[in-house]
Amino acid sequence: MNIIVTGGAGFIGGNFVHYMLNKYNDYKIICLDALTYAGNMETLEPVINNKNFKFIKGDIADRNLVYKVFEEQKPDIIVNFAAESHVDRSIDAPEIFLKTNIIGTSVLLDACRKYGIKRYHQVSTDEVYGDLPLDRTDLFFTEKTPLHTSSPYSASKASADLLVQAYGRTYKLPITISRCSNNYGPYHFPEKLIPLVIANVLNDRAVPVYGKGENVRDWLYVEDHCRAIDMIIHDGKEGEVYNIGGHNERTNLQVVKTIIKALGKSEKLITYVADRPGHDMRYAIDPTKIENELGWKPQTFFDYGIEKTIKWYIDNKKWWENIINGEYQKYYEKMYGGK
Ligand code: NAD
Ligand code: DAU
Repeated sequence: MNIIVTGGAGFIGGNFVHYMLNKYNDYKIICLDALTYAGNMETLEPVINNKNFKFIKGDIADRNLVYKVFEEQKPDIIVNFAAESHVDRSIDAPEIFLKTNIIGTSVLLDACRKYGIKRYHQVSTDEVYGDLPLDRTDLFFTEKTPLHTSSPYSASKASADLLVQAYGRTYKLPITISRCSNNYGPYHFPEKLIPLVIANVLNDRAVPVYGKGENVRDWLYVEDHCRAIDMIIHDGKEGEVYNIGGHNERTNLQVVKTIIKALGKSEKLITYVADRPGHDMRYAIDPTKIENELGWKPQTFFDYGIEKTIKWYIDNKKWWENIINGEYQKYYEKMYGGK
């Protein structure tokens, strides 16, 4: 089996590459990644010499390159993780989100039509459903929840989902889509809440909390997400959408306080900053479909997963220090000013 994993030098794609190479010793995993600011070859260092692994640097929106990769690699399956993924960056500069997340997806779909494929899997997000009110804890996102996006990021991901479904229906392309809640774990880029807080607390820096810190996210350990995608590409029904989430809802303030406590530091590090425009209040996934149809269940619950994640960041300082000491400093300054 030849599997092209796009965005495999990023957080979840990188964990998926590791997961698949560990699990299957007869699959070839081809990583196609443009190495944007979020792509990192150090994430792929543990697998770079694996005989079943190949890395190709390239943009999924580059049609000639993508077609050449399909011709040469003859993939059976595509798993598309490649995306611009950070909501705050999409609010600052939406255009690249449209190019990568929408045009890039359409190029991959066209390549699948042209060369044929056993499965095209789109890694989507729960953000396409918009948000839920804080005072209605009885409500969850199901696969039937209407798309109702808030940010340029989520609008671009929802557009991509619609294209994927259109290619499924019109051209009978064998597609599946997964919509997962917030991931955390090793190799998470430090612009995102959990790794940012861990890095700042370890460095005794202020921890920026947007608004009142009352927004709720539904956290899933990244390996549980990878296992779900593995199940969907093998046993998921063509044309279907699967929600992925493990009922680990926490307010941002709860997450921040958990990390500060685990590292034995003071809550005085918490600094309330201006809220994100259009900030989604609550995400919460109903995973009943994937549990019933594919037998998926999360294996790592938040209290243990966060401990493992903090330990990983302590043991792998070089990985994230290389990032925060480079170009990223300019982004941090622009985003958080002197904080
Ligand atoms: P990430 O930002 O860490 O990684 C994205 C990767 O894609 C990087 O390696 C980057 O170099 C690559 N990339 C970007 N533009 C590209 C292009 N034009 N061509 C080829 N490669 C390109 O993202 P992530 O957090 O790992 O998210 C991966 C996917 O999962 C995204 O599609 C995202 O929407 C989705 N998702 C993320 C989460 C989450 O919590 N992080 C949750 C649900 C779904
Ligand atoms: O739900 C899935 C989505 O989760 C993915 O589709 C996105 O790619 C991924 O980035 C993530 O989006 P969020 O916006 O939820 O993640 P982020 O880590 O940026 O923020 C989590 C929450 O923490 C959110 O309510 C905003 C808040 N926050 C974030 C940062 C970076 C802060 O309060 N302070 C911060 O400095």
